[in-house]
Amino acid sequence: MCGIVGAVAKRNIVSILVNGLLRLEYRGYDSAGLVVVHDGKLDRVRSIGRVAELATKSANTYGELGIAHTRWATHGVPSERNAHPHISRDLIAVVHNGIIENYEELRTDLTEQGYEFTSDTDTEVIAHLIHSHYAQGSLLVATQMALSRLIGAYAIGVVAADNPHQLIAARKGSPLLLGVGEGEHFIASDMSALLQVTKNVVYLEEGDVVEVNLANYRIFDTQGISIQRPVNVSQLNNDSVELGEYQHYMQKEIHEQPQALADTLESVCNSQTMVPGIFGAEATAIFPQIDSILILACGTSHHAGMVARYWLEEIAGIQCTVEIASEYRYRASVANPNTLVVTISQSGETADTLAALNHAKVTGHLFTLAICNVPESAIIRQSKLRFLTRAGPEIGVASTKAFTTQLAALFLLTLVLAKLRGRIDPEREQQFLHELRHLPSAVKKVLALEPQIAELSRNFADKQHALFLGRGLHYPIALEGALKLKEISYIHAEAYPAGELKHGPLALVDKDMPVVSVAPNDMLLEKLKSNLQEVRARGGELYVFADANTHIKEAEGVHILQMPEHAGFLSPILHTIPLQLLAYYVALQKGTDVDKPRNLAKSVTVE
Ligand code: F6R
Repeated sequence: MCGIVGAVAKRNIVSILVNGLLRLEYRGYDSAGLVVVHDGKLDRVRSIGRVAELATKSANTYGELGIAHTRWATHGVPSERNAHPHISRDLIAVVHNGIIENYEELRTDLTEQGYEFTSDTDTEVIAHLIHSHYAQGSLLVATQMALSRLIGAYAIGVVAADNPHQLIAARKGSPLLLGVGEGEHFIASDMSALLQVTKNVVYLEEGDVVEVNLANYRIFDTQGISIQRPVNVSQLNNDSVELGEYQHYMQKEIHEQPQALADTLESVCNSQTMVPGIFGAEATAIFPQIDSILILACGTSHHAGMVARYWLEEIAGIQCTVEIASEYRYRASVANPNTLVVTISQSGETADTLAALNHAKVTGHLFTLAICNVPESAIIRQSKLRFLTRAGPEIGVASTKAFTTQLAALFLLTLVLAKLRGRIDPEREQQFLHELRHLPSAVKKVLALEPQIAELSRNFADKQHALFLGRGLHYPIALEGALKLKEISYIHAEAYPAGELKHGPLALVDKDMPVVSVAPNDMLLEKLKSNLQEVRARGGELYVFADANTHIKEAEGVHILQMPEHAGFLSPILHTIPLQLLAYYVALQKGTDVDKPRNLAKSVTVE
């Protein structure tokens, strides 16, 4: 999604801006732009499409102060005129992440004041608003006055043509940080954009406004009071993420799952017992107090939460609800102070999940745990307890290794709580630990099915729709399989608990409807088999991912992909793999942009 980079230095900062944007590319965008202040003028370059094009167009640009942006369209189509930075009367330039909700009203006001709009964006009102106050004060004061009129979410960077060594930045509802260099400073929406120049970072807090100069910076809180924020040393490293032998990041990331799981489980698998401390020092005191779990997340991370509900209730005997973050954040819910609120997020910056976390706190929840893949993300910083999945950078927009490592983390949470609540004895604990140690190699075995899945995928290339079925613990896996297929192959896919089929979706089944079923060898197998008969009887083509010994036979219209033996409670992790591969190979057949599917962004930092 949108990305911001800004710099003030005593050297040409154009390549810093462009390289920063390149690091943010994977988040998804449709256009890019930058502006530098040079000789008392704003020099702006914008392009639709890739940052590489912006790099070419700006090759001869020079400036020691500038801001840059990758845009993911919200207000107005992707086009050069809508790309940021937006400029007001050749004086003020602004880049913006987020959404200004009252922009129409502001636009009307500003038009009446004589401002002309050249884009369809909500951002342009910010540039004109700042301009309208600039004559009365400094760039800082003009920005603060403009911000006081905005309703919505923003992270912004601002420069003025007549102010060659200063930039102003502010955030509310969208992430932004300040990079501290020697005699130079930077801003960015994500630390990865700044690793090329500094590791020293100040995380701006909600409502902060910062005046950034060459030699120093000043931060002001929501009240306009000057405050200090700690300078942290980022632990991220700047290694570029190479594709290696793979064709796409998604394929690479699917194959990285054994290692990602091994890394995520490392601390536990190397010890003889599980302790609450793996979720943070305070977990030892907090976990005994909790009597229920509330999981908040979006998309794939929400599916991970849905699997965890089955584990938490069955193994740990603790009541669990799972809610989509964008719904929860606007619901007047009743808080139970003994609930553990668990947010799950790959990026740790998802606007809805972050807002849901804050909503939970405001509603009265005291205990919060983040399960997240990005160490220095907002969700991690704003939660009391944390567990870092160690999937490594996930570049493909479709989440794969983040999902399975989230499941591993949630399984650990289940076991720790189960132990605390006296639901598992030491022998069972050892058995679970053994299964976890074995998990990476079990995943490797499933990955070996890749050629067969590639072959199977050919049957999907000309299909418009697909149904996915699962039951129990594997229903969320069917949901995840359908999500993967729709987001990267653009085939319309829906998932149902198999028992629901005859309550409606069966009407859709005919010879053109492939039906994909997750078939673990568990206690619901016989029920599932009956559901599959219902499909076959209506001419539906079945693709069954079946554990060993399920005795589901290959036949006309019934394609079997033979999985290893049933993996018990960890089975959802193994059954995810072939569905990821299926989506990947169908997308290859369809020739879509696998790693950057249309209309989607990696990090959804706006509502
Ligand atoms: C799907 C996908 C999305 C994300 C969702 C939440 O493949 O990646 O559905 O899972 O946008 O993102 P995070 O986990 O970063 O909060």
